[in-house]
Order: sequence, then structure tokens, then C-alpha cells
Amino acid sequence: SGQGRASDAAEPLTDKRIVVGFSQLGSESDWRIANTRSIQEAAREAGITLLFSNAEQSQEKQFEAIRSFIRHKVDVIAIAPVVQSGWEPILKEAKQAGIPVIITDRAVDVKDPSLYVSFIGSDFYEEGRKAGKYLLDKLRDTPGPIVIAELQGTVGSTPSIERGKGFRDTIKARADLVIGYEAPADFTVEQGKKVMSSFLKDPKKVPKVLFAHNDDMALGAIEAMEEAGVAPGKDIIIISVDGTRKAFEKMVEGKINCVVECNPLLGPLITTAVMEVMEGRTLPKRIVSPESVYTEVLAAKEVANRKY
Ligand code: AHR
Repeated sequence: SGQGRASDAAEPLTDKRIVVGFSQLGSESDWRIANTRSIQEAAREAGITLLFSNAEQSQEKQFEAIRSFIRHKVDVIAIAPVVQSGWEPILKEAKQAGIPVIITDRAVDVKDPSLYVSFIGSDFYEEGRKAGKYLLDKLRDTPGPIVIAELQGTVGSTPSIERGKGFRDTIKARADLVIGYEAPADFTVEQGKKVMSSFLKDPKKVPKVLFAHNDDMALGAIEAMEEAGVAPGKDIIIISVDGTRKAFEKMVEGKINCVVECNPLLGPLITTAVMEVMEGRTLPKRIVSPESVYTEVLAAKEVANRKY
């Protein structure tokens, strides 16, 4: 390739393997662990050398990783961005070095679309809409006012912003559905539990619904509810996003009512995109993974099929 190759001492000079630098944003959730694994496995199967870097939720660390990939002269850089703003300067550095960038999972908010070749991942707005639609159906015969609690993801991250928007745009069809509690809980079990406990402080104002932006926070919230003597899935309708096996198990127990799928298994899509870029093909600017909605009705049948 004209891009040059990583001069890793372990690799012979004759090695024609494609080298990809991947900046992963962290390891906050079961979704993220599955996402990392999928990308590592797909790279191995495709014979791609993957330089992997975990930024532990720090955009600054992502910048450092990307700069080191540029110094290594990797063939392609893939980035799962922790937040969506602030990417223009570093993407310009990659462009100047002539290294194509694939954005995956979360979006980057940049004015110049030529700064990346493709964005591969879920439609988070649609996920929020699906959560809202489920709720409208579920509450069809339940009169309001109905208080909703929302556990949001990482502040400034695309999934948190877009799921929140899609959900709000959908539930506004009913003026008597009110988001009475909302706070970020960083997509983690621990924060989900902590923030949910704070939502349950006043036993006279227990919300009727929880919309958790991911399964991990929903699982933490379930612990908080059980400690507070509130029945998850019964006293509080719970809707979450992702589709982890643990969440499905809770759905089988009737403790989560609906899970909107967000697919982490993006490895094969990313390696295909890498191969195509290396062949000089122009990729679609947006590649969206197909996703379903699962409810308690089908959970028992589906739980064995979960891959993560
Ligand atoms: O960006 C995808 C989101 O990030 C997933 O919903 C969540 O579980 C992860 O931490």
C-alpha cells in the first residue's frame, strides 16, 4: 500500500499483512467487552494485524493512541469515540498522514465529512424511538400522569444524546407521560445502582417506568429497586438497550420488560470495510447494523441464542 506499514520489530519486513490501529473508548459494559472481542476475532480471522488501545473513557487518551498509530504508519485507523465533539483536529492529522479513518459505534460531530471514510454502527435515535414506542403500547390502557425515570449514558456520547432524543420525540404523543427523574450513570452497573437509589429516595414518588440507556445500568437499577422493596418489571416497567445475556435472563424472570437491541458484533463489518478501503473502493458513508426489539414474551425462547 502507499500508506506504509507498521515497523513492528516482531514482524518480518516481507510481511504484507494489513495493519489497523483501533482506538477503543473503554471497557465500561458487557456490550463494550463483546464489541472489543468481535473486532479482535474478526481481525485475526481476516489476517489483519490489529494494534489495540483502550482509552478508559478518556478522549485525550484516544488522541494519544491515534498519534501513535500515525507514527507507526498503520494502513487504517478505526475509532470508537467516547464523545462526539472535538475530533476535527486529530482527524486532520490522520488525513494529512494519508491514513484512512473508519469511525465505529459512536459518531463524531465534524463539519468536513472527508475526515473519515465510513461510520459503521447502530442508529441510536431509532433505538430511542423503539423504546418509546414499546412504552406507548404497554401503557395504552393505563391512564396518566405517569412518571418516567431515565438513566442516561456517558454525557456527550452519541448513544446517550440520540437515545434520549428518540425516546422523547416518541413519548410526546402523550402529554401525561412525564420524565420526572433523569441523570447520567455512565453506562455502568455501579452508577446505575447508585443513581437509581437516589431516584427511589422518596417512597411516595416512586417512578412507574425506567428507561435505562443500557443493560448494565438497568441491572444496577434492579439491585437498587430490590433493596428499596420495589418490584422491578412489576412496580416499575423497565426498558433498556443492548441485549446482553444477563439482561435477557432478567427478562425471563420478568424483571426487565423490554430490551431494544444494540448490536456490538461489528468486527466482520469493520474488517470487510478495511479490506475494501485497501482495495481503493469508496465505502458507503454510513453502514447501519440491523437490530430488533425483544420483550418479556419472547425472552425465554431467545435467551439461549444470545452471543454475549
Ligand atoms: O455506544 C454503545 C453503548 O456503549 C452501549 O449501549 C453501551 O452498553 C456501551 O457502553
